[in-house]
Amino acid sequence: MKILVTGGLGYIGSHTSVKLIEAGYTPIIVDNLYNSKKSVLKRINEITGQQPLFYEADIRNKTDLKPIFAQHDIEAVIHFAGLKAVGESVKKPLAYYEVNVYGTITLLDVMSEYQVNNIIFSSSATVYGDKNPSPFIESYPTGNITNPYGWSKFMVEQCLMDLQKAEPEWSVTILRYFNPVGAHPSGLMGEDPQGVPNNLMPYISQVAIGKHGFLSIYGNDYPTKDGTGVRDYVHVEDLATGHVCALQKLNQSGTHIYNLGNGSGNSVLEVVSAFSKACGQQIPYKMMPRRAGDIAAFWSDASKAQKELNWQAHYQLEDMAKDSWRWQQKNPTGYPDEE
Ligand code: NAD
Ligand code: WQD
Repeated sequence: MKILVTGGLGYIGSHTSVKLIEAGYTPIIVDNLYNSKKSVLKRINEITGQQPLFYEADIRNKTDLKPIFAQHDIEAVIHFAGLKAVGESVKKPLAYYEVNVYGTITLLDVMSEYQVNNIIFSSSATVYGDKNPSPFIESYPTGNITNPYGWSKFMVEQCLMDLQKAEPEWSVTILRYFNPVGAHPSGLMGEDPQGVPNNLMPYISQVAIGKHGFLSIYGNDYPTKDGTGVRDYVHVEDLATGHVCALQKLNQSGTHIYNLGNGSGNSVLEVVSAFSKACGQQIPYKMMPRRAGDIAAFWSDASKAQKELNWQAHYQLEDMAKDSWRWQQKNPTGYPDEE
């Protein structure tokens, strides 16, 4: 069964493509290489023994997409492609709305034309905004979002729900990821941020490898267990499996929304401690003021995914730290340009 994976060379898309192959599906990857490298394909091959078909194509461009749909009998689309840097989205809102919202609408139009009505969409816990109490539950109201990236996810969720209402044959699954971290246990695939990472785990990894002198911890006066921010970290391997589980829901028309998280929170200091243990050296850090737009603490209620998708996160924080460190050590400069 052929599954079109947009953004399939990216961090979560590449891990999901491996799981798809392992589950007997045939992923077809569409990516414009904006935030990824072609050498990911060889790594997928090294892990699975199969190299997925790849199209260098842009989701904003119908003339890129149509021939792919014309050529292949595509059962479903898993839609990862997009921009994801929260801070950048504040500075370049139109770029985020263009790729994430317009790009998705373009993809949906082409899917409609070729009667492919099954989509799994990468959304984010950010849609819950800063007013809901944790744990976040899927039925909570969304909104009160503090950045254009988050609003772009909110808007796409609305587009998908409205489309499904108007055309009931659509099956829409919206997965709201919490904080994805970790890497493939082989050390062959992982997160490859370009420039200085904004997110916690990749930054700590780069401190451990010596690229930065210390970690800045943004705030130690939050009302949390140790004063630092608390998040629901979820291993990218668990997330990837979540998509395979979600494929079972397709062909059941409707809009299905699931949190993918561990269901509990860890503080920044707990992440630092787990990583220090994994890499065998204390990660140096300095306490800094709070980062603008940050929430003190949030985590998921992931029981709906467990009940309906039979999905549950299995990896612990220690595994996430170990796997991130293995990937960082084996690939200190990320993926090669060509392999
Ligand atoms: P990523 O940047 O590693 O992967 C996204 C991929 O999409 C990249 O390979 C990029 O080259 C590609 N892409 C970007 N614009 C494109 C376009 N116009 N046409 C075709 N391809 C394009 O990001 P990721 O961490 O793997 O995230 C995947 C999805 O999950 C994104 O939609 C992101 O918003 C969402 N998400 C990520 C996180 C996270 O923390 N990583 C959390 C919640 C949701
Ligand atoms: C985690 C904690 C920081 C870096 C973002 C997006 C969210 C989702 C995941 C896409 C916070 C602290 C961080 C550092 C630190 N992405 N921190 N020093 O902000 O929870 O979520 O990524 O959908 O939408 O908002 O993740 O990893 O940036 O931060 O102290 O150098 O680590 O303050 O408490 P965040 P993060």
